[in-house]
Amino acid sequence: MALWGGRFQGGSSAMFRQVNDSLPFDNVLAVQDLQGSIAWSRAIARAGVISAAEQSQLEQTLNELIALANEGKLDFAASTEEDIHSFVEAALIERLGDLGRKLHTGRSRNDQVATDLRLWVREHCEHLNQDLTRVIASLVSSAETNQQVIMPGYTHLQRAQPVRYAHWALAYVEMLKRDLGRLSDLTKRMNQCPLGCGALAGTTYDIDRQEIATELGFDSPCLNSLDAVSDRDYVLELLFCASTSMMHLSRMAEDLIFFNSGEAGFIRLGDQVTSGSSLMPQKKNPDALELLRGKCGRVFGHLQALLVTMKGLPLAYNKDMQEDKEGVFDAVNQWHCCLLISVEVIDSIKLDAERCARAAREGYANATELADYLVGKGTPFRSAHDIAGQVVLTALDQGKAIEQLPLETLKGYSELIEEDVYPVLQLEYLVDKRHILGGTGAKPVNKALDAAKSWLSQH
Ligand code: ARG
Repeated sequence: MALWGGRFQGGSSAMFRQVNDSLPFDNVLAVQDLQGSIAWSRAIARAGVISAAEQSQLEQTLNELIALANEGKLDFAASTEEDIHSFVEAALIERLGDLGRKLHTGRSRNDQVATDLRLWVREHCEHLNQDLTRVIASLVSSAETNQQVIMPGYTHLQRAQPVRYAHWALAYVEMLKRDLGRLSDLTKRMNQCPLGCGALAGTTYDIDRQEIATELGFDSPCLNSLDAVSDRDYVLELLFCASTSMMHLSRMAEDLIFFNSGEAGFIRLGDQVTSGSSLMPQKKNPDALELLRGKCGRVFGHLQALLVTMKGLPLAYNKDMQEDKEGVFDAVNQWHCCLLISVEVIDSIKLDAERCARAAREGYANATELADYLVGKGTPFRSAHDIAGQVVLTALDQGKAIEQLPLETLKGYSELIEEDVYPVLQLEYLVDKRHILGGTGAKPVNKALDAAKSWLSQH
C-alpha cells in the first residue's frame, strides 16, 4: 500500500507506476536507509515521541533487516512498494505492526533520501579511494621494474624527445593523485546531515540534529532545510570526479593501445586482458584498453544528464531529483571496474626495451640536443635550431641518424661542431641530462619513484 493513500480515491495507473517507482534501482540504498532509520528512531525517542522500549524494538528489527540486506535476502523484485523508503516501512509494519507505523513521525522521504544518498556517496568515495590507490601502486611497481627503459616521448603523436618509461608511468600517478584529492575535497564538503529537515521546512519535534549527524558520522547538520533536501551538488561532484578520472584512464589506455600496436611494439599485454578475433587467427586485441576509453562516454553522459536535470529546479524537493540515482550508481560502478581492470592491464605489461630504445633513437629525437650543443658553443638558439633542422633534412635524405653523419658533413652546417658532439647525441646521455626537477633524467625519475613509494606506504 502506498505511504500516502488517505487523500486518494483512485489508484495509480500501471504506466504511472512504471515511471514513478524507484525501488527497482534505489534498493541499493537499503542499508543506508536502515542505518538512517536507526538514527531517526533514537532521535524521536530522545524527543519523547516513542519510549525507550519501543526504540530498542525498532532498532533490533532494523538491525535484523540490515543483516538480511547484507545477505541479499530482501526480496525487492517481489515487492510492490514504490521505493526503498516505503519498502523499509512496510517491512517494519509487517514485523512490528503499529510500532512500525510510528517511525516516520517528523521525517519526510525528502530528508530521508537526501541522507541515504549522502551515506552511499561517502561510503563509495572510500572504496574508490582504495581503487585509485591500487592503480597508483601498479603504475609505481611497473615504473620500478622498468626503470632503465627509454622510449620516445611524443607531441602531436610525432616522436619528440626520448623519455623513460618510468617517467611516462609516473605522469599518470600524478593525475590519479589529483583524482584522489578531488574525492577527498568532495567528501569533506558533503559531510553534513540533512536528517531532521523534514519535507522542506524542518520539523516541530524536539530533535537534536547535531546528535543524529554525529551518530551517522557526519561532521555537522546541513544548515538550511530548503537546501538540505534539494542539494545534489555532492552527486554532481562525484560524477565530475568520475569523469575526470575516466578521462585520465582513457588517455592512458590510448597511449597503451598505441604502445601495443604492431607499428610501435613497445609493450605486450597479457592474455587475461585481451581477446581474439572470430575470423583472423593471429589477432590479439587490446579490448580492455578500448573499453577503458569507450566507457568514458556513458560516465560523462551521467554528469551532463544530472546537470540538466538540476538546472532550473525550483526549491525545494521535486520528483525530477529521483533521476539522480541510476546515473551515479552506474558511473561509480563503471569507474570502479575501470580502475580494477587498469590494475590488471598494468600488471600484465611486458616491455620490449630494445624496440623502445630503437624507436627513441630513430626519428631524430636528438635534434634538440644538437641545437643545445651549438648553443653551448655560443650560437644563438634560433640559429642553432635552424642549423639542426638542416642537418635533420640531410640525414633524412641519406636515410641516416644524425649521429651517423660524418664530422665533415656536420661541419658543413657549423664550423663549431667537433668530435665531442657524438657523445652528446647518445640516447642515455640526452635523457639523463634532463636532471631538472620534474624532468625525465635518471636522477629526478628515481627521486619521483622514491616519493611515490613513500606516498604509497602512507596510504
Ligand atoms: N524515491 C524518491 C527519490 O528518490 C524519494 C523521495 C520522494 N519524496 C516525495 N516527496 N515524493 O527522490
